[in-house]
Amino acid sequence: MSDVVILRVVGWDQRRSTAEQERATLALEAGNVLLIPDLHFPLQDGENRFLSPEVAGKTKNVSFDPVSGTLGGTGVDEPDREALRGMVARFAASSGALVRNLLPRYAAHLQQGRTSYRPAEIAGRRTSWRKDDTRLHVDSFPSSPTQGRRILRVFSNVDPQGHTRTWRLGEPFEDVARRFVPSFPGPLPGGSVALHLLGVTKSRRSAYDHYMLRLHDRMKADLGYQSEAPQRRYEFSTGSTWIVFTDQVSHAAMSGQYALEQTFHLPVDVMQDPSRSPLRILERLLDRPLV
Ligand code: SIN
Ligand code: FE
Repeated sequence: MSDVVILRVVGWDQRRSTAEQERATLALEAGNVLLIPDLHFPLQDGENRFLSPEVAGKTKNVSFDPVSGTLGGTGVDEPDREALRGMVARFAASSGALVRNLLPRYAAHLQQGRTSYRPAEIAGRRTSWRKDDTRLHVDSFPSSPTQGRRILRVFSNVDPQGHTRTWRLGEPFEDVARRFVPSFPGPLPGGSVALHLLGVTKSRRSAYDHYMLRLHDRMKADLGYQSEAPQRRYEFSTGSTWIVFTDQVSHAAMSGQYALEQTFHLPVDVMQDPSRSPLRILERLLDRPLV
């Protein structure tokens, strides 16, 4: 089962020893969550005013694109908007520094994706089953194909009242894949071109993305699997930070409020052991190339 591996890091910009870097890389590639209990993301003066679910309005997350500087998913107006952007941009920079210091093997190839601020309580939120992240799943997003690239995410719990963020972690990717993937129908010929032309996907949905999306949906749709799959609960306390390959680790977020998150993408071949990637596991299982 996926587990939590604890690492003692005190600063976002702290260079780590080679031994620690190796340990961190191995733990992540093996499908564990790397938890840094003492690494907190400090809010600056005045940012406490953003500790309210209203900051995200109807969408559950505020989203930031570190490349263009665009902030979305918030009803907050100027000049507060600029301050909110500053807070999320600071998390983008801090988490970028953290992964470069901790995972130098990946550093030159990491692509920084969206940053999110998640001020809504997870427990009791009403959504469709497909968007319900309280169900065990691996990450795969209908409009954002990765073409096999890894999804690496950094989370920080910034809840001012000390509420933990509670997750469940499930069985190893290979076990989930063996259970479900062999029965999935393959992608329709020409389907990925059509989805892209119609604007459903931002780029071509590869066969890999097709199977990952199916897997995400299949896991969430199966209530028997949700309760019977091997799993454990973990509490991530306020002031802690954790890193995880969410395309590989079966996870569910059960409760908690006020977190920041940064997504990175990583080409599979940069991994120390690419054979552990979902792409290579699915290719072995289906006995064909998927990108
Ligand atoms: C998820 O990726 O399923 C949600 C994680 C979280 O917001 O804690
Ligand atoms: Fe997820």
